[in-house]
Amino acid sequence: MANAWKRERSTPLLCSWRSLLLIPLGISFYFLFTFFSSASSSNPNPISNPKTFVFEASSPILPFNCSACPQATPVFASAVEGLAHPFLYSLADLGNLPDKPHKNIARMLKGKPFRRPDISLTIQDYLASKGAAVDDGIVVDVGANVGMATFAAAAMGFRVVAFEPVFENLQRLCDGLFLNRAWDRVSLFAAAASDRIGNITFHKLVGRLDNSAVSATGARLAFKSNQEIAIEVPSIPLDEVIPDSVKVLLIKIDVQGWEYHVLRGASKLLSRKKGEAPYLIYEEDERLLQASNSSIDEIRSFLSDRGYHKCEKHETDAHCTKD
Ligand SMILES: *[C@@H]1O[C@H](CO)[C@@H](O)[C@H](O)[C@H]1NC(C)=O
Ligand SMILES: *[C@@H]1O[C@H](CO)[C@@H](O)[C@H](O)[C@H]1NC(C)=O
Ligand SMILES: *[C@@H]1O[C@H](CO)[C@@H](O)[C@H](O)[C@H]1NC(C)=O
Repeated sequence: MANAWKRERSTPLLCSWRSLLLIPLGISFYFLFTFFSSASSSNPNPISNPKTFVFEASSPILPFNCSACPQATPVFASAVEGLAHPFLYSLADLGNLPDKPHKNIARMLKGKPFRRPDISLTIQDYLASKGAAVDDGIVVDVGANVGMATFAAAAMGFRVVAFEPVFENLQRLCDGLFLNRAWDRVSLFAAAASDRIGNITFHKLVGRLDNSAVSATGARLAFKSNQEIAIEVPSIPLDEVIPDSVKVLLIKIDVQGWEYHVLRGASKLLSRKKGEAPYLIYEEDERLLQASNSSIDEIRSFLSDRGYHKCEKHETDAHCTKD
């Protein structure tokens, strides 16, 4: 899923959002924040009184506080083209000059918005086709990366609880919160979702943060030449964060092979009865799963035991439902 956008042919420009290029040169997070607050004080919109969506987790891990997170610079962010509900996201990896700048950098210089990530369309299509109202439940994004799924749902008004352990990606998610004025809808957790509370070693692939993985082999599979760094990150089961009382419409999981561990940690959530159980979208890549000691069959049988009898393959993802 990580590189799916590269293979996709360019789609017609449907939205006219102007690309946003911020090279802040010392712009601080504080400035960004006060800019948004003061820009709105003469303008009666929701920004003037930002109410943060702090997901009241009873879990030992507290939500990540973007207000306390140091702002990364420079910020390269733009709107995504071709979506019914456009949003902006900030790049985590800019690539290398002169040979391999990130393709979206080249698009920005040509005045084009960012290419539409497949997952953004998938999420918006699903929520639209379900005819879901924003109060019908939350969206859970596991392996949020820079927010291509999170902000796709938030742009439609849905509340999102997102998990992302890589600090550089969290900074980009915080950029997205402010750029999309989505702080009242998105709650972030700086953790890897898994099947136990604790710490796990996570392998960060330098220059390709979208391929970071719990398994070193998983991190390296697609990009063998990149340097990899091991970091300790907190891990937590979804069942520890999401109480029974919270309705969940959709769970998206893209964690480079760690999918089975995430699902096992959501056993209670996935055992909810038909009609109340979340729709499930997860990356299903046999090589990545095996690098984390699991497999497609094991996952499918685990899901089937919990009532997920209908799974369909969509490119590299599986979509599963009880309905
Ligand atoms: C987040 O951090 C800011 C700035 O440090 C602080 O004022 C605020 O109370 C914190 N919010 C939460 C929910 O901890
Ligand atoms: C995880 O690591 C942190 C910092 O290294 C430590 O304080 C904490 O006790 C660890 N948690 C568990 C459950 O091992
Ligand atoms: C997979 O299992 C092997 C052997 O038990 C172990 O050494 C390795 O750390 C495991 N890999 C992961 C990602 O858990």
